[in-house]
Amino acid sequence: MANRFVLNETSYHGAGAIQEIAAEAKGRGFQKAFVCSDPDLVKFGVTKKVLDVLDGAGLVYELYSDIKPNPTIENVQTGVAAYKKSGADYLVAIGGGSSMDTAKAIGIIINNPEFEDVVSLEGVAPTKNKSVPIFAVPTTAGTAAEVTINYVITDAAKNRKMVCVDPKDIPVVAFVDSDMMASMPKGLTAATGMDALTHAIEGYITAGAWELSDMFHIKAIEIIAKSLRGAVDNTPEGREGMALGQYVAGMGFSNVGLGIVHSMAHPLGALYDTPHGVANAIILPTVMEYNAEATGGKYREIARAMGVEGVDSMTQEEYRKAAIDAVKQLSADVGIPKDLKEIVKKEDIPFLAQSAFNDACRPGNPKETSVEDITKLYEALI
Ligand SMILES: NC(=O)c1ccc[n+]([C@@H]2O[C@H](COP(=O)([O-])OP(=O)(O)OC[C@H]3O[C@@H](n4cnc5c(N)ncnc54)[C@H](O)[C@@H]3O)[C@@H](O)[C@H]2O)c1
Ligand SMILES: [Fe+2]
Repeated sequence: MANRFVLNETSYHGAGAIQEIAAEAKGRGFQKAFVCSDPDLVKFGVTKKVLDVLDGAGLVYELYSDIKPNPTIENVQTGVAAYKKSGADYLVAIGGGSSMDTAKAIGIIINNPEFEDVVSLEGVAPTKNKSVPIFAVPTTAGTAAEVTINYVITDAAKNRKMVCVDPKDIPVVAFVDSDMMASMPKGLTAATGMDALTHAIEGYITAGAWELSDMFHIKAIEIIAKSLRGAVDNTPEGREGMALGQYVAGMGFSNVGLGIVHSMAHPLGALYDTPHGVANAIILPTVMEYNAEATGGKYREIARAMGVEGVDSMTQEEYRKAAIDAVKQLSADVGIPKDLKEIVKKEDIPFLAQSAFNDACRPGNPKETSVEDITKLYEALI
């Protein structure tokens, strides 16, 4: 079977990239934007940076900000109703994964109304039409939702995060502007950055990985390992590096899938509202140890990209340990907790393990897994 690769039509990179929104909107003849953002970004004036560009160019818009972190079916459905009333003809998503994912779900449902229940979009849904065109402006350096074909919506009634995979949702233009990320506090920078590292590492060892995706993932690990500490200290180089590194990781994993770090993180977001990046970062080293035997020589390349020296003279056991230790060190340096003790209740583990096993990212794991194995992995973390 041929390998498919989907990327944005156009993307802009670098501080100030949002200025390009005006010319792109005009060039495409768009009339009115439906802007999706979240209440905190509106409050802290982050959304306004883009609204100022639209205002400055005389472009009209309507703002929708009823979007919570780990967005819900209700956030999507309220958004669909507001979009229909707005008379808009394109979407501008400004925010982290939550705002961008909500915009994707809205854009898909507007052009495929038979999926208005949202639930039927889980997994790979047979949508017929492309989303309403989306301009995506990430404000975190983590999910890379601006270049992925995925979106994640929480089914609050079932405490489940639904991973939806659909090439028709990919934003037509991404504006990856590190200035939009500069207001992130340290904890959010660290968590979202570790989400990006998890994408790069899981994408590199996932079952469907191949040369083209490997190229993106190895480069992403290298850039993220070099930049995340600086980004947490809010240096311009660190921010620029993370803006690019997370995007490069997205170009890869979106096309080949992930693994059970994400499968185990998703139920924590659904049940406890744990920030996605924090959950991934805590779980990553433990699952790397579990998966090691199914990864051939790949941990040598991960260790090298993480900046470990002398990997060529290491034994398999040594380079695998070196890769995992480098991930643990980066996590510790940016202030991520070591375990899930403060988050997971022991009695919830059977639900969490079943939910993780059912997750859309699980089949991508390099090693065959089971509910029992996942149970043991959660237990090892509390
Ligand atoms: N689509 C994908 O491919 C993909 C991949 C990974 C994760 N996700 C999903 O994305 C969501 C997580 O997204 P996220 O980690 O980007 O965070 P988020 O969008 O949930 O935002 C978290 C918080 O950070 C705040 N914030 C965002 N940018 C800020 C900034 N520049 N300054 C100050 N505050 C800021 C927001 O207001 C919000 O309160 C989860 O639902 C996750 O499952 C999607
Ligand atoms: Fe993620």
